[in-house]
Amino acid sequence: MKTVLITGANRGIGLEFVKQYLQEGARVLATCRDPQKAKALTALKEMGDLQVAALDVTQPEQVDAAAERWRDQKIDLLLNNAGVYGPRNSFGANDIEADMAAWETVFRVNTMAPLRVALAFQNQVAAAKGTMAFITSKMGSIADNTSGGSIIYRTSKSALNMTVKSLSIDLAPRGISCVLFHPGWVLTDMGGPNALIDVTTSVGGMRAKIDQLTTKDRGKYFNYDGREIPW
Ligand SMILES: NC(=O)c1ccc[n+]([C@@H]2O[C@H](COP(=O)([O-])OP(=O)(O)OC[C@H]3O[C@@H](n4cnc5c(N)ncnc54)[C@H](OP(=O)(O)O)[C@@H]3O)[C@@H](O)[C@H]2O)c1
Repeated sequence: MKTVLITGANRGIGLEFVKQYLQEGARVLATCRDPQKAKALTALKEMGDLQVAALDVTQPEQVDAAAERWRDQKIDLLLNNAGVYGPRNSFGANDIEADMAAWETVFRVNTMAPLRVALAFQNQVAAAKGTMAFITSKMGSIADNTSGGSIIYRTSKSALNMTVKSLSIDLAPRGISCVLFHPGWVLTDMGGPNALIDVTTSVGGMRAKIDQLTTKDRGKYFNYDGREIPW
């Protein structure tokens, strides 16, 4: 049985990953900041083999506790999904010190925490010769940036991209494949009401690509539909 670990699994894209992998018959290890409040997530236990654990990805002791809880579990797929956008109008509209503080917070969640989670679970993923997929954004692409702005979110994802590129090389000897996915502009709390695709389409596309990955794809940056994105 395939085992999938997902961060930020209580809503949005993470919750849809849980649904679709349960439908597929996988064992799902779903993590979120507050399982007591995650009613939509815990309701999915009826669908199959779902285990839920508390995990604020910025809290080292919680990352270590989750890795310890599932120490003997082989993990075929680790989905580093949890993320935040930060202030929408930064550097100009607000107090600069508030924006600087928000920048640090966003980096902790979007850039530093995925690396910490990946390192904490590397033995479980190596045991399965598995994949670590990181949910980034096309907004982190330097080549794609023609509109400017969104410096906080953009840089957090650009830095995640470089982190994962290095990690893909560092962890290859252990048989682990690391890849990056832009999920599309998706109708979630973060994506807002004007987004272009629903979670079903986004997650369905990423799952299809994940199923086709080979070792040649290590370190690549994919759109949800499987096309590569320029860095
Ligand atoms: N939606 C889009 O259009 C879009 C586009 C490009 C990339 N993305 C990326 O896709 C991923 C998922 O986004 P989404 O659209 O599903 O966003 P969302 O609906 O806002 O959900 C974000 C998820 O991340 C969790 N999270 C935030 N901070 C966390 C922390 N410190 N520890 C653990 N979990 C935390 C949230 O948990 P709480 O409920 O506890 O806050 C929630 O489960 C993110 O990495 C995002 O950057 C989204």
